Amino acid sequence: MILMITGGAGFIGSNLILYWLKKYPEDHIINFDSLTYAGNLSNLSSVEKHPHYHFVNGNLCVPEEISSAFEEHRVEAVIHLAAESHVDRSIAGPGQFIQTNVVGTFNLLEAAKEHWRENLAKHRFHHVSTDEVYGSLGETGFFSETTPYSPNSPYSASKASSDHLVRAYRHTFGLNVTTTNCSNNYGPFQFPEKLLPLLIKNCLEQKPIPVYGDGSNIRDWLYVTDHCSAIDTVFHHGKEGETYNIGGLNEWSNIDIIHFVCRLLDEALGRSGKDSCENLISFVKDRPGHDRRYAIDASKIQKELNWRPSFTFEQGIRETISWYLDHQDWVRLVSSGEYQKYYKQQYGSK
Ligand code: NAD
Ligand code: DAU
Repeated sequence: MILMITGGAGFIGSNLILYWLKKYPEDHIINFDSLTYAGNLSNLSSVEKHPHYHFVNGNLCVPEEISSAFEEHRVEAVIHLAAESHVDRSIAGPGQFIQTNVVGTFNLLEAAKEHWRENLAKHRFHHVSTDEVYGSLGETGFFSETTPYSPNSPYSASKASSDHLVRAYRHTFGLNVTTTNCSNNYGPFQFPEKLLPLLIKNCLEQKPIPVYGDGSNIRDWLYVTDHCSAIDTVFHHGKEGETYNIGGLNEWSNIDIIHFVCRLLDEALGRSGKDSCENLISFVKDRPGHDRRYAIDASKIQKELNWRPSFTFEQGIRETISWYLDHQDWVRLVSSGEYQKYYKQQYGSK
């Protein structure tokens, strides 16, 4: 199979490509990515010479670039991850989120419809989305596949739009689509603008750990490899036209997860007392429109497709911490240049 993975140089995309080439070495992967600040080819240096891996520097906002990749590589299936993915950036500048997440997804769907027109049912188009499309939960309850959409940030609204477009291309044109909506991921190669890698980076550099509001907002954390195995499961066995929620039944308030990771970092770095990472915790202004709580009901994918996470949180977070400690060069590389400007704008210091 010739499989195009969009956004393959990003956090989840690069983990997915490494996962896929190991599990399905006979498949051909076309990594279609425009290498924004969040895309980094060094994530894939271990496979760059793999005979079944090919990188295309292409932009979803340019339809001709998608079309020529489909033609040149005779793409047979798509897993679509490319997106602008950071909520805070969508608040500071929503425009690019509409372009990439909405218009870019539309361009990709058009290319798939055109290039696969002889037999649309034969070619799977899997769309990777987020639990944020469902909005925010109170103290109880979970997001299921039938929870009404209620996106609150420009990011989640743009992802919700892309989900609707994917759905419409099946309903109207018969494209063979599946969609997954996943909770917060963590793991190697995550850009240090997101909470956990930012926290690890700042502890290493002895900088304040910014906690939005009072730190009581809740997220449901899943190790990225478990997200990859869920995408694999739905791509191969999911029912056409269906959506599946993915999560780890692993809810943490931000302040609790920050304390927990600080303790593991203290252990790894031999810090204690006044040097403890916990002393770097610093409460800052809340994120505008900050969603209170996300929690996923993943019973559909569990019951229908027999998928379950295979990493405990303790395993996943320990692996993640040691990956970041061993890859400080990677962190330095991705956080040079543009990152410095972003950090100053977002947190008001260097
Ligand atoms: P990321 O920001 O790390 O990576 C995004 C990738 O897309 C980058 O490589 C970037 O260069 C590429 N890209 C951006 N704009 C592009 C364009 N116009 N054309 C081509 N490529 C472009 O994102 P991530 O965290 O890996 O998320 C991947 C997908 O998974 C996204 O669709 C996101 O909404 C979804 N998701 C993420 C999480 C999470 O916790 N990170 C959870 C659920 C769903
Ligand atoms: O739920 C899935 C979503 O998870 C994905 O769709 C998004 O792409 C991904 O970015 C993530 O969104 P969040 O906004 O939940 O992730 P983030 O890491 O930005 O923030 C996690 C929580 O931590 C959130 O409640 C905000 C808080 N936070 C974040 C940052 C960056 C802080 O308190 N301080 C910070 O500096």
